[in-house]
Amino acid sequence: MKVTVIGTGYVGLVTGACLSEMGNHVMCLDVDPAKIRILNDGGIPIHEPGLLEVVRRNVAAGRLEFTTDIEKSVAHGTLQFIAVGTPPDEDGSADLQYVTAAARNIGRLMTDHKVIVDKSTVPVGTGDKVRAAVADELAKRGLSEMEFSVCSNPEFLKEGAAVADFMRPDRIVVGAEDERAILLMKALYQPFVRNRDRMIITDIRSAEFIKYAANCMLATRISFMNELSRLAEKVGADIEMVRVGIGSDPRIGTQFLYPGVGYGGSCFPKDVKALAMIAAENGMPSKMLTAVEEVNEEQKMVLVHKIVARYGEDLSGKTFAMWGLAFKPNTDDMREAPSRVIIKELLARGAKVQAYDPVAATEAQRVMEGWAGLSYAEGQKQALEGADALLIVTEWKEFRTPDFDGIAASLRDRIVFDGRNLYEPELIRSFGLEYLSIGRR
Ligand code: NAI
Repeated sequence: MKVTVIGTGYVGLVTGACLSEMGNHVMCLDVDPAKIRILNDGGIPIHEPGLLEVVRRNVAAGRLEFTTDIEKSVAHGTLQFIAVGTPPDEDGSADLQYVTAAARNIGRLMTDHKVIVDKSTVPVGTGDKVRAAVADELAKRGLSEMEFSVCSNPEFLKEGAAVADFMRPDRIVVGAEDERAILLMKALYQPFVRNRDRMIITDIRSAEFIKYAANCMLATRISFMNELSRLAEKVGADIEMVRVGIGSDPRIGTQFLYPGVGYGGSCFPKDVKALAMIAAENGMPSKMLTAVEEVNEEQKMVLVHKIVARYGEDLSGKTFAMWGLAFKPNTDDMREAPSRVIIKELLARGAKVQAYDPVAATEAQRVMEGWAGLSYAEGQKQALEGADALLIVTEWKEFRTPDFDGIAASLRDRIVFDGRNLYEPELIRSFGLEYLSIGRR
C-alpha cells in the first residue's frame, strides 16, 4: 500500500520504517529540513535500537523515502498518518497546532480519496477537528463533495524498544467510522498481528481516550510506587521486597512497579496534564491525576533531599558524578528527564556535576547549554574522577555490574546515591561504599 507519514520524529520514523518493512511504499514528510537531510544522507536523527538497519534496508529497496515536499507527500499515500508532536500548551492541554496544520495541508492538496490516520496522542474529539480542518480546505477549493476518511490509531511503542514494539504489538487500536478505512487499516496491520486477535476496532473517541487512559494508568502506578517507597523508608520496610510481594499477585503484575526518581519523557508528563485538563474542562477535575503529577514532581527531588540530608544545603566544593541522563535507558530523549531537575538543584546549591550517559550526552548538552558547573565525561570511570559521590539516575545495563572497587577507590566520600535501586545493599557495602537508594533501609 502507499503510505505517507507526516512527522518524522520518534513515532513517525519508526512507523514509516516498520510499515515499509512489510512491503508498503512509505513516504515520510517532515517540516524540519535538518532531519530529512540526515535521513537522506543515510543516518537517523534519533537513537533507537535497530532502527537504522530497518531504515537503510528499506531505503535501499526503494520502499522508504524522506521528503520536505508537502505536495509530493499528499499525492503519495492513500493512507496519510499524522505523527506530529502534541506538546503541552501553557495550561497543560495538548497543543494541536501541528496536527491541524498537517490536516489542513492534506485538505489543501488532496486530489483523491485519502484515509487520514491520527497517530499522535490527542484529546478526545480531535478526530472531529481533523475532519473539520480538511473539509474546510476542500470547501475553499470548491471540492466539498470530495470524500475522505478519518481514523484514530494511537501508538503504544516504548522509546528504547520502539522497533520491537511496533513489529510485535500487544494490540492495535483503530478508531474508525467507515468500512473502507477499517478494511485498509486491517490489511495494513495484518502482518504485525498475524494469528493473533490483537486488533481492537472501535469508534474514534474511544480510541483517542484509550491512549490517555493507558499512559495515565501507567503514570499512576509509578507515582503510587514512588509514594509507597517513601513510606517504606519511614516505617523501616524494604520497597524492593514489597514490590516482589505485591507483583506476584497476577491482578497487580510485576511490570511498571519500580520506584525511582520519577517518570519523565515526552509522553507521561504531558499526557497526565492533558487528561487532567480534559477532566477539568468537562466539569470533573481529576483528584487522581493531580496527585499523580504532584507525587512525580516531588519524586524528582528524592535524590537531592538525600544529598542535602547527608551534606547540608550548601554543596559548594562538592563534585557529583552522575551516571545516566536520559529519562530511561536505550534512548537519547531528554524531554522532561528527571536528571535535568536533579542537576539544576545541585548546581543551584553550588555543586559541580560530571555526567556520563552512553547515548544522551549530545542531546543533554543541547537542552542544558551553558549550565555552569555541569561537565560531561566520556565514560563511567572518567565521571568518577575527582568526584565526592556518585548518583545513578538512569538504569542503563552497563551500570548494573560496575567495577565496585574502582568506584570505591575514585570517590572521595565513597557514597553512592542510587535513584534506580540497581544494587544489593549488602554487596555494594561490602566494597566499603556507603549506599543510599530508594525506599530501602
Ligand atoms: P517528535 O517531536 O519526535 O516528532 C514530531 C515531528 O513532527 C518533528 O520532527 C516535527 O518537525 C514534525 N512536524 C511538526 N509539524 C509538522 C507538519 N505540519 N508536517 C510535517 N512534520 C511536522 O514527536 P514524537 O515523540 O514522535 O511524538 C509524536 C506524537 O506521538 C505525539 O503526539 C506523542 O505524544 C505521540 N507518542 C509518542 C511516543 C514516544 O515514545 N515518543 C509514544 C507514543 C505516542
